Amino acid sequence: DSPSKDEYVEGVVCNESDIKENEMKACQLGDAGKVLVVKHNGKISAVGAKCTHYGAPLVNGALGDGKVRCPWHGACFDAVTGDIEDYPGLDSLPCFQVEIKKDGGVHVRAKRDLVKSSRVTKPMVKRNPSDPTTIAIIGGGPAGLVCAEVLRQKECGFTGRIVLICMEPNLPYDRCKVGKALELKIGQIILRKESFYKEHDIEFMKSTEVTGIDTSSKILKLGTGSDLEYTKVFIATGGLARRPNVPGSNLKNVFVLRTVEDSNAIYDLINKEANIVVLGASYR
Ligand SMILES: Cc1cc2nc3c(=O)[nH]c(=O)nc-3n(C[C@H](O)[C@H](O)[C@H](O)COP(=O)(O)OP(=O)(O)OC[C@H]3O[C@@H](n4cnc5c(N)ncnc54)[C@H](O)[C@@H]3O)c2cc1C
Ligand code: FES
Repeated sequence: DSPSKDEYVEGVVCNESDIKENEMKACQLGDAGKVLVVKHNGKISAVGAKCTHYGAPLVNGALGDGKVRCPWHGACFDAVTGDIEDYPGLDSLPCFQVEIKKDGGVHVRAKRDLVKSSRVTKPMVKRNPSDPTTIAIIGGGPAGLVCAEVLRQKECGFTGRIVLICMEPNLPYDRCKVGKALELKIGQIILRKESFYKEHDIEFMKSTEVTGIDTSSKILKLGTGSDLEYTKVFIATGGLARRPNVPGSNLKNVFVLRTVEDSNAIYDLINKEANIVVLGASYR
């Protein structure tokens, strides 16, 4: 077997008649792993079977209108193309080649590593230093990061300067994790590694507050005392946890849960003797 032959895996994974309209099925493809086979508008497609967020089996999610929603935290993908449609996933699902055989067999051909990883990052363009445009993004949460990323994707093709400015001291991270686990290490929950920003020429200013916007001269005022000229600005400053306006809510050891620092501060105080009161009862 040549290595290039080994790169691909193919085979009949099920029969067309096994899947009804608007149904999905996780089917084994050779020894590479499972692929998600979907029937939408009478056509069968095959995409990655695991969510690109934390790998949930998408077959346990919800399918409707050609979109599949992850059962764990709600990321949404186009079931035909695999494109990411909704946070908290960032990458798309790989989309595999499907051929329906004469006997109705659903034949799938796929790159072995894509079946295993079940994720693809969209192709990106390079920054052109002679492009004078600057897009400033205020807020380094997922919305800010996704904006920067989509601008650099080939489909959008933005080659100017991108500056992402954030008050928090960390690279954009998965805030969803803040409510699901304690003792978090930031390196485990960042959405993209530092090398990603370098590779795609996305400047990231951490621990920097935008304190004002002068829209007539197109200048951002930064908490560091310096200014930043922009061509366009995108505001992605998210929300804040609301502290109830009751006496004592600002006392020591009263926390809101919004950042990784909040989570770690709560964790530091937990011991067998600690009494904990939780105000608010959502699932977060
Ligand atoms: C505990 C918790 C659990 C969650 N779990 C889930 C889940 O399971 N599934 C799900 O889909 N969603 C979940 N969410 C919601 C999800 O995290 C938010 O919808 C998402 O973070 C919103 O992204 P955003 O980029 O709009 O804003 P944010 O994540 O709030 O980011 C905004 C950023 O902008 C910065 N900023 C604000 N003002 C300025 C300024 N003037 N200058 C510079 N920077 C500024 C902020 O410091 C922040 O870093 C959860 C949220 C929390 C708090
Ligand atoms: S694992 Fe799918 S949204 Fe988190």
